[in-house]
Amino acid sequence: MIAITRAVSPRIVECELTCHDREPIDAARASAQHERYEQWLDRHGARIVRADPAPEHPDGVFVEDAAVVLDEIAIITRPGAESRRGETDSVARLLHDYRPLHRIEEPATIDGGDVLTIGRSIFVGQSTRTNDLAVEQLREIVTPHGYEVTAVPLRECLHLKSAATAVGDGTLLVNPRCVDRESFPGLEVIAVPETEPGAANVLCLAGALLISSSYPETRRMLQHRGLAVETIDYQELEKAEAGVTCCSILFRGPSPGREEAPPVTPE
Ligand code: GLY
Repeated sequence: MIAITRAVSPRIVECELTCHDREPIDAARASAQHERYEQWLDRHGARIVRADPAPEHPDGVFVEDAAVVLDEIAIITRPGAESRRGETDSVARLLHDYRPLHRIEEPATIDGGDVLTIGRSIFVGQSTRTNDLAVEQLREIVTPHGYEVTAVPLRECLHLKSAATAVGDGTLLVNPRCVDRESFPGLEVIAVPETEPGAANVLCLAGALLISSSYPETRRMLQHRGLAVETIDYQELEKAEAGVTCCSILFRGPSPGREEAPPVTPE
C-alpha cells in the first residue's frame, strides 16, 4: 500500500471547524502525534509518500479530503471549504504518477472524508462540504469502472467518515446519531457506544485496526469481536475535528501483488 501524508501546518489552530468548538491546539504536539501516525502506517506495510508541505493551509495535514483513489483512477476533489481548495494541486501532482486523474469541477464541491468505498459501493455523505452536483459528477466518473454511488444523509457531523468507517469485511462501525443504519443495506452495522460518538472513525490496514486512545470503550467492544485493535494518541488532531482516516490517502501501488513481493536474487 501507498500512504500519502502531509506535515502538520504550524497554523493548524486556524483550521476549519463545523461541529466542534475551537480550543487551543499545540502544533508541536500535533506534529509529534502525526509522526507516530506515519510510523504506524509504515509498520503496517504502507510506503509513505509525503505531499509538499503547505504551511499556509491550516487543514493541509488532512490529505484524505483532497482526493478519492480507486484501483483504476483517482478523483481530485473540490473541497467544500474555500480555505481548503488550494490543497488539492500538490496531491494531484503525486497521484499523477499512480492513476489516471479525474476532477470534480465547479460549482460541485466534495471532501474525500465524505467518500466511503466498500468494494464496488461508494457511499457519499450529504454534508455541509459535499453537494449533490458532486455526487452526480462522481457517479458519472466511476460508473464506467463498475462502481455504484449512493448518497447518504448526515446530521450533526463534519463528514460521512466522522460517522461511519469499515472495520473489516462488510462490517461498518457507525454513530447512529449522525447516520442511519439503513443507509448501508447488505452491510453489518455495529454502533459506537453513546458515550463515544467520535469513535466511528477507525483506520483499517493490513488486518489491523487503528483507533484513537480517546475511545477505550469502543476499542474493548471491537477487541471482543476478535479484531486486532491498536490505539494512537491523536487528541491534538481531534481538536481540529479530525479522525484517524483524515491524515492519509491509502491505496494499492501500481502493481498490486508485486509491490510487497520479496526481492528477486540474481542467479
Ligand atoms: N478541520 C477539518 C476540516 O474542517 O476540514
